[in-house]
Amino acid sequence: IQKKLGDTNIILVGMMGAGKTTIGKALSNSLCKAFVDSDHEIQRRTGVKIPVIFEIEGEAGFRKRESEVLAGLVEKKNIILATGGGAVLNAENRQLLRRGGIVIYLRASVNDLYRRTRHDKNRPLLQATENLYARLNELYMQRDALYRETAHVIIDSGKQGVRFLVQKLINKL
Ligand code: S3P
Repeated sequence: IQKKLGDTNIILVGMMGAGKTTIGKALSNSLCKAFVDSDHEIQRRTGVKIPVIFEIEGEAGFRKRESEVLAGLVEKKNIILATGGGAVLNAENRQLLRRGGIVIYLRASVNDLYRRTRHDKNRPLLQATENLYARLNELYMQRDALYRETAHVIIDSGKQGVRFLVQKLINKL
């Protein structure tokens, strides 16, 4: 599989809490490609955490930084790239990602997303909401089609463990 993939990038898209970071790191080990996280890269460049960017520059400011960082990262070779959940909102980003490598939509049910994000404090879009489940459902409804449109491969995260999921994914590549 490593030979077949060569230095092709693998790009993970999907909702907050879908497991992009966890699966991305595991894939990075299995496929011997460097793991890169676009949110980490944004934080590294600005020197502040994501919530601070939202606070100072709003979501629009964050999206602008996100697009810039993604444009740079897709130029890299042989990486596993975990994108932020909102990366696909922008049509140019979608095109950029699709051209940048094999895009995988890590799909998860709203129930699972809820379970994995309910104690989270670092995702501004999920804070200050009275009903987290409804909020996630709303985002899922807005974005599911965009993830599908961007992805070359769709994989259900479901209840399966990381190792199983990674194997399932590799089989689809
Ligand atoms: C966002 C997802 C976050 C982060 C930011 C906005 C979103 O990344 O980019 O808080 O719009 O879904 P994760 O998907 O890694 O949580």
